[in-house]
Amino acid sequence: MFKIRKYKKSDIAAISEIMKKTFLKCNKNDSSDEAVNRFLADLDISDGSGNLHKKLLHRTVFVAVMDDRVVGLVSGKGSWIGSLFVDHRYHKKGIGRKLVEEYENNFKKRGLKFITLRSSVYAVGFYQSIGFKKTTGLRNYKGYTIWPMKKTL
Ligand SMILES: CC(C)(COP(=O)(O)OP(=O)(O)OC[C@H]1O[C@@H](n2cnc3c(N)ncnc32)[C@H](O)[C@@H]1OP(=O)(O)O)[C@@H](O)C(=O)NCCC(=O)NCCS
Repeated sequence: MFKIRKYKKSDIAAISEIMKKTFLKCNKNDSSDEAVNRFLADLDISDGSGNLHKKLLHRTVFVAVMDDRVVGLVSGKGSWIGSLFVDHRYHKKGIGRKLVEEYENNFKKRGLKFITLRSSVYAVGFYQSIGFKKTTGLRNYKGYTIWPMKKTL
């Protein structure tokens, strides 16, 4: 089983690793070379925890933990979800759904009425199965092929 909790700074190495590996496995082919390089550079923590930790501090972040290991994360700002990644070895176990539910409930309590996001091509079916709808057609956003989506809470 897994549990969901708030992000803490000691999660940073696991988060960086999950995002890099999962992105390269699932999302790389829907991104330009320049976007791939930018994505990986933003996750660089060789200087300690660097900019990634600073960025996460300005967001609401939940992680999924299984046997004391971080296996997934969701992060965003208010009604916008910016990142959702689950270690590919743990896909289709309900972790992604639970992370988004936690994020939604956190803001539903504060009266938020909807959530928007830019879905990867890979994740569109996942988001549809948890109630999101496409709002426009496919878009190119900074070199990433994405589908804008929205869910009314
Ligand atoms: C998208 C992602 C977070 C889903 O995580 P997950 O833990 O595997 O998802 P869940 O197990 O909670 O799945 C919930 C439902 O969505 C379905 N689903 C999961 N991944 C799917 C996919 N890629 N395509 C279609 N349906 C999918 C599941 O079968 C399940 O359906 P069910 O309730 O009918 O059984 C994960 O695939 C991932 O990390 N992808 C790569 C990164 C990415 O693209 N993130 C989105 C960036 S915006």
